[in-house]
Amino acid sequence: MTTELVYSKQYTDLTREDLMQKVSEQMSDKRFQHVLRVEKKALELANNYQIDKEKASIAALTHDYAKERPDEEMIDIIQNEGFSSELLEYGNAIWHGILGAYLVKTELGITDQEILDAITLHTTGAKEMSDLAKVIYVADYIEDGRDFPGVVEARESAERSLDEAVSYETYHTLTYLLKSKKKIYPKTLETYNYWVVSH
Ligand SMILES: [Fe+2]
Ligand SMILES: [Fe+2]
Repeated sequence: MTTELVYSKQYTDLTREDLMQKVSEQMSDKRFQHVLRVEKKALELANNYQIDKEKASIAALTHDYAKERPDEEMIDIIQNEGFSSELLEYGNAIWHGILGAYLVKTELGITDQEILDAITLHTTGAKEMSDLAKVIYVADYIEDGRDFPGVVEARESAERSLDEAVSYETYHTLTYLLKSKKKIYPKTLETYNYWVVSH
């Protein structure tokens, strides 16, 4: 499925191969292999849930674009490009999604808001998520290389429903953050309150 995908030029002038090349230049081979597995999973989910495959591919390939940027560069962007200074209380785990969308826009010229939002929200989720954002959030969590207690259940939930998979992932991510006494980014709580708490 992956290799047959030819971009329409609607969302980027780059070919899929050129985009892969630009992304690979930003990261270790290990991480790039993760990115390719996220794309594979995102395309499977897009196929199952009738979501635009080209957008799923572009968002998946770029979701970790900023993951290996030095902290100093990220701090500089937060301070000078109009981001909330509250972000400075967090680290790259939070920054790389939000600033990643900014860098994908400014450096790669991808301007489609739905793609950029999917990149922004891929680690925290949100109350309001497009199906594309759900696909990237979930694909990142259940790609074939992931191996953690509960990954089988997470994959099964994604077969049944995208919303169920978002809920499963959010609950388990928050549980992990609490158990390891890590700081919770407010958006993660927003995601929990909407997707996990019964309503
Ligand atoms: Fe990420
Ligand atoms: Fe990722």
